[in-house]
Amino acid sequence: MKYVIINGSPRRKNTCAVIKQIKTNLEGEFEEIYLQKEKIPLCVGCYNCIVKGEKYCPHFSQINPIVEKINDCDGIIIGSPVYAMNVTALLKNFFDHTAYLFHRPQFFTKKAIVVVTTAGAGHKKVANYIDETLRHWGVNKVYKIAMACGGKEHLETEPIDKVSKKFFKDLKSNKLHSPKFGDILFFDVWKAMANMDEPIKPDAEYWNETGLINEDFSPDVKLNFIKKGFSKLMFFILSKFIK
Ligand SMILES: Cc1cc2nc3c(=O)[nH]c(=O)nc-3n(C[C@H](O)[C@H](O)[C@H](O)COP(=O)(O)O)c2cc1C
Repeated sequence: MKYVIINGSPRRKNTCAVIKQIKTNLEGEFEEIYLQKEKIPLCVGCYNCIVKGEKYCPHFSQINPIVEKINDCDGIIIGSPVYAMNVTALLKNFFDHTAYLFHRPQFFTKKAIVVVTTAGAGHKKVANYIDETLRHWGVNKVYKIAMACGGKEHLETEPIDKVSKKFFKDLKSNKLHSPKFGDILFFDVWKAMANMDEPIKPDAEYWNETGLINEDFSPDVKLNFIKKGFSKLMFFILSKFIK
């Protein structure tokens, strides 16, 4: 089993301690990325990744190796402390550089565990935000550990162990989860966008080359007939609306 760890904390304390504890419940190889060390410049808002293709991002040489590592792994571990009720700028900057993945989702077979630590507030909200972002990337299943560490001398290991054991069992099962209706809706939004008369070129290329343009969702993941019907209906409505 291969894991990639994306750590958005600028220091190696609470978030690191939780990740360290998670690792005790997992078996395999870990690739750790400390965004602080990567020194990725701020997204300049050039839109190149979206309209020309991700290779045209001025920071492609720093972003692409991380995306490749996610592509190569079985499990993603992604962490951030709460800063001013949100993720750190380090993690947000990385997410901004992956905006093209929202248009061209690709991690349909990946499962993730999100770690958020806080002094006292915002952890659930921030964990939900990271969950939402990963789902836009296409990630199949997201587990969450959101912990308030303020005023606590020792790490509460029990809730960490519980969630990480579930994550490991799920990874070993090799079974993919049925997507939520919201995930199907977004799949159809981007599919309809790629299918417009004048689509964004890299989006159209991606959706056609992967064959996803002809699917109700990633073929790696099974849909029951209700979800298939929902996807077809959404695509029909969105195609009309977008035109
Ligand atoms: C700049 C900054 C902003 C923070 N904002 C919040 C906040 O909005 N709410 C909160 O409860 N804790 C806040 N904290 C506390 C951290 O979220 C908390 O200590 C976290 O566990 C630190 O993780 P780390 O040890 O991995 O850096 C903030 C800390 C810093 C340095």
